[in-house]
Amino acid sequence: MHAETPHPLTLVADAPLNGRMQVPGDKSISHRALMLSALAVGESRVEGLLEGEDVLATAAAMRAMGADIERLGPGAWRVHGVGVGGLLQPEGALEMGNSGTSTRLLMGLVATHPITATFVGDASLGKRPMGRVMEPLSRMGAAFEASPGGRLPLMLRGAQTPLPLHYRLPVASAQVKSAILLAGLNVQAETVVEEPIPTRDHSERMLQGFGADLTVEPMADGGRRIAVTGWAELKPQRLVVPGDPSSAAFPLVAALIVPGSELLIEGVGLNPTRDGIVRVLEMMGADIERLNPRLVGGEPVADLRVRHSALKGIEVPPEIAPSMIDEYPILFVAAALAEGRTVMRGIEELRVKESDRIATMAEGLRASGVSVEELPDGLVVEGRGGEKVPGGATVETRLDHRIAMSFAVLSLAAERPVTVDDRAPIATSFPDFLPLMTAAGAREA
Ligand code: S3P
Repeated sequence: MHAETPHPLTLVADAPLNGRMQVPGDKSISHRALMLSALAVGESRVEGLLEGEDVLATAAAMRAMGADIERLGPGAWRVHGVGVGGLLQPEGALEMGNSGTSTRLLMGLVATHPITATFVGDASLGKRPMGRVMEPLSRMGAAFEASPGGRLPLMLRGAQTPLPLHYRLPVASAQVKSAILLAGLNVQAETVVEEPIPTRDHSERMLQGFGADLTVEPMADGGRRIAVTGWAELKPQRLVVPGDPSSAAFPLVAALIVPGSELLIEGVGLNPTRDGIVRVLEMMGADIERLNPRLVGGEPVADLRVRHSALKGIEVPPEIAPSMIDEYPILFVAAALAEGRTVMRGIEELRVKESDRIATMAEGLRASGVSVEELPDGLVVEGRGGEKVPGGATVETRLDHRIAMSFAVLSLAAERPVTVDDRAPIATSFPDFLPLMTAAGAREA
């Protein structure tokens, strides 16, 4: 995990960014690929797996519960599953590091197995709310002993006789939805999740691919009803993980804000539940071409050609939030360089991510000379109309990879560089961020 001594990062751009790059595999899909392969009967192969710390935490946990998981080469993994219902009692605590996705999805899996697991994590994960999964999973028969406020460390005792559940999501959360669907795999009845606002649907797509008995139906209010009937045998698969749009967003915005830049970012996943950032940047006037659209592992993918653009501030429609929830920090950076004001609301969920991303970004932007107004559920950014931001600050990243990368990118368009206090968190989701950015022409100052 992370080194004890913080390792600051300062990136600068002396010239336009140029060239082509491939971003790493999608984090959400990589977690699910390991979990479902570990539940299938037989041997699956995964290519393009993200080898960031978060996904490695999932791999270690699945191993601790009996799956045979082996790395064959870069991004290439072999997984021999235990079958639904076959997870074993882990000997020690499950170390989740910084990863909310590992924690919440694995809680779903453990909840309907007759085993007990203790989940531990870093200081950031220890502040994040787990009640949102504990509540529905308790109704399925799981029992919890959590730290105060429903936080980690927590102990989960899985149900001996799991119960089905019919649940309407109170928050738009793919993690809560996925935890319930994964729990439902080991219940011999139908479990239903209704989501009023669609969230990323990788679990549904992949579960169907593995042969789970799962249906998705649109609801009259625009939401979706997902039903899973447990005890279907999952069949091993050969999976290819598309590039992560949440990682692609950093070089994408970097090219937009550094004059003269042009980048080709290859193999980016553009699932409609994930591509909000591209749509919003286009609304702001970004020049982004989607080339060579294709399907990879059942997911829509394209190469993105992006050129430096004069961006305009807009009111970002709140309903787009679930399709770009992790991209707001880097959108704030794009907004800081745009002409006029950008208003982003309906994003209170950002307050319970790896850090309070509204507060952490507002502080760092202000320190870098950008004028912002923090709202309970959003942020208003006064753009500098293409002028560089003053910069010159050292910003706190608070164990949050996306905060670190956002300010590293802001620094590329700053009069005086912006220093990120610790680069270590970047390894949770995008270990090659720095080499890819320097290959494109950025320089470490
Ligand atoms: C994720 C869902 C989102 C997202 C997270 C990954 C997933 O979280 O922020 O990075 O893989 O399901 P929420 O479900 O809390 O919105």
